[in-house]
Amino acid sequence: MRIEPVPALVGHIAVPGDKSISHRVVLIGAICEGETRIAGFGRSRDTEATVAAVRALGVRVDEQDVDTLTVHGVGLRGLVAPSEALDCGNAGTLMRLLAGVLAGQDGRFELVGDESLSSRPMERVAEPLRRMGARMETVDGHAPLVVEGGLLQAIDYELPVPSAQVKSAVLLAGLLAEGETTVVEPLPTRDHTERLLERAGASVRRRPQSVSVQGADQLSLEYLEIPGDFSSAAALLVAAVTVPGSDITVHGVGLNPRRIGLLDILERMGARVAIYNRRPIGGEPAGDVQVRSSELVGATVTLAEVPTVVDELPLLALAACHARGETVLSGAAELRVKETDRIAGVVEELRRIGAHIRATPDGFRIRGVPARLRGGTFDARGDHRLAMLGAAAGVSSREGVQLQDAEAVETSFPGFFRVLEQLSAV
Ligand code: S3P
Repeated sequence: MRIEPVPALVGHIAVPGDKSISHRVVLIGAICEGETRIAGFGRSRDTEATVAAVRALGVRVDEQDVDTLTVHGVGLRGLVAPSEALDCGNAGTLMRLLAGVLAGQDGRFELVGDESLSSRPMERVAEPLRRMGARMETVDGHAPLVVEGGLLQAIDYELPVPSAQVKSAVLLAGLLAEGETTVVEPLPTRDHTERLLERAGASVRRRPQSVSVQGADQLSLEYLEIPGDFSSAAALLVAAVTVPGSDITVHGVGLNPRRIGLLDILERMGARVAIYNRRPIGGEPAGDVQVRSSELVGATVTLAEVPTVVDELPLLALAACHARGETVLSGAAELRVKETDRIAGVVEELRRIGAHIRATPDGFRIRGVPARLRGGTFDARGDHRLAMLGAAAGVSSREGVQLQDAEAVETSFPGFFRVLEQLSAV
């Protein structure tokens, strides 16, 4: 797909519902009592895999509209083992959280994924779930993941890597364990699971560095509205920061403090960011975010900040290319085990279109120039976040970008190019 440079990005938009929350509400809705009605569901290839997975486990899901669903919960122990493997596609969140949900269910479940998901680390969920009493098999630490549910014991578990997916898997398994399960997290990661479990009536105790859940008898969610996905908005926000004359507002977007490190870093770099109409949506902080193009300076981002910006680090690299001076990211080795090796992908693809960037083992270094990048060919490598990065880089480039594998956006934001075009039509 050809992405042409644009003179400016201007306008008001909304983005689809948050992907992390969409996965969670379908999975938790499946083990609730009765109906969970969901508004603002973020429909994408990843979240459709979650709907298909719970259906395969015997849960009825009605789709009233593209973003309106009803999940007919079967209760905490009501899932039924299918004869076929559960296909998690490209979705790490689905595979890891589902492993937690299934760890206490009767039966044997096989979880498979696509080539990318099958190369990502799965021992990080298998290990704590085994400690709780489930039988977990991986193939050299990777999918296919076989879960044989068992009688679970509560555990105290300190996360070896900051990961909301691992934390969530342990908490979800904790619902079916005897006693109180505690996850200690040295660095805070997104807390959507905790918020939803509280809302569903589970007994959740939260402290600054840990969270505990009690074994539960029943859960009930009834209704949930999902805010817009900050990570989807981020591609458009960064494009607007870097294209001179831009002024865009994304309405109704989730602003969970553990997700919006990008806004803090962009502000530190000199970006003009404003938040209006702060309001809760579905138990999450949300609001309207306005970004105007700005002159930027380089920034330093280290380990402590990484979990709050982990999915936006590729985009941060693009902002940094346009910033005067050096930007250094460290403490982000996790990027190497995302849908692709995002350190290699970001560095090699941005360099191909004119950036001064180099990889380090756990991040990158960028020498920014306050001018448009040249442009050229950019390969998304099957990774949705790289596809959105390539498109944002294209609109802010001098000569445009030939974006290979653009359809990777389907993983999280199928309407992405339409929205980008809408903002470009000034
Ligand atoms: C997610 C957690 C993060 C993030 C991913 C979604 C979630 O992964 O990168 O896109 O929904 O819990 P990790 O838990 O592996 O850090």
